[in-house]
Amino acid sequence: MGRLLRDIARSVLGEPLASRVWKRVEIVGDIAVLRKHPDLELDVEVYRRLAEELMRRLPYVRSAWLAVSPVGSSYRLREFAHLAGERRSETVYREHGCSFRLDITKVYVSPALNYEHARVAGLVGPGEEVLNMFAGAGLFSIIIAKRARPRRVVSVDVNPEAYRYMVENVRLNGVSDVVFPVLGDAREVARSCPGCFDRVLMPLPELAYEYFADAVHSLKMVGVVHVYDFVSAREEDEAVLAARSRYLEKCETLGVWAEVEGSRVVRSVGPRYYQVVLDLRVRKP
Ligand SMILES: C[S@@+](CC[C@H](N)C(=O)[O-])C[C@H]1O[C@@H](n2cnc3c(N)ncnc32)[C@H](O)[C@@H]1O
Repeated sequence: MGRLLRDIARSVLGEPLASRVWKRVEIVGDIAVLRKHPDLELDVEVYRRLAEELMRRLPYVRSAWLAVSPVGSSYRLREFAHLAGERRSETVYREHGCSFRLDITKVYVSPALNYEHARVAGLVGPGEEVLNMFAGAGLFSIIIAKRARPRRVVSVDVNPEAYRYMVENVRLNGVSDVVFPVLGDAREVARSCPGCFDRVLMPLPELAYEYFADAVHSLKMVGVVHVYDFVSAREEDEAVLAARSRYLEKCETLGVWAEVEGSRVVRSVGPRYYQVVLDLRVRKP
């Protein structure tokens, strides 16, 4: 797909512009999402030509939108402008054999998390009780329910639209007996269930540090927290080390023993700016 998108961008924009733009195209179901380049003042018409060529070469893409703002607000949404094709922002996105109905303007979704969804699901043991604190349309939760054998996955989001799609997706994927959607603040849910979970997912770097103590509170005596962080660093290794120190110090402050069982850069989110995940095994005193 990468090479095809690059070819399309090259044919419309020529090099070297193409090399700066093609990575900013994502396909979500039958919708193409183009993201504005932060440093290039390109006219919307340029993105429209790109979208039209993309739709000509990929006939299954029925609609194209331009993200005109970065991810913002507590629901982690962008603002969009319609570029080409059907004026429709709802689609069915497929990942790891699961289907997710969602509206790209109402619910956060990122195909860049594809590998991460499967990676975390692969770590879940049979019978585990899992809390997903920032679940969006339910991607981590449903993929875990389908690929592992957890006892239950409590799946929280504060955005009513994300909750609505999550409920629908749980039904669509036949996991209603395992995934329990909750509409609300993840902190309150974690606080209301002390010592309940074997594993807690915190896929929202902006709130993870602030809510970390609540995640630990909701863990059983021993458990795993998958915490996502944004880190400024010169290179990837440095970013991972910085996130490790930050969270190991936090665990020390909380008076819990912790070990980093896994860590990786999930993606680069800007120049020298990385999203990092840590798999932290935590033991309470
Ligand atoms: C980065 S998105 C999650 C992506 C999702 N896990 C996935 O894999 O597609 C973060 C989500 O956290 C939700 N959120 C923000 N603040 C929250 C809070 N206090 N409690 C629960 N959910 C929250 C947002 O509505 C958003 O859907």
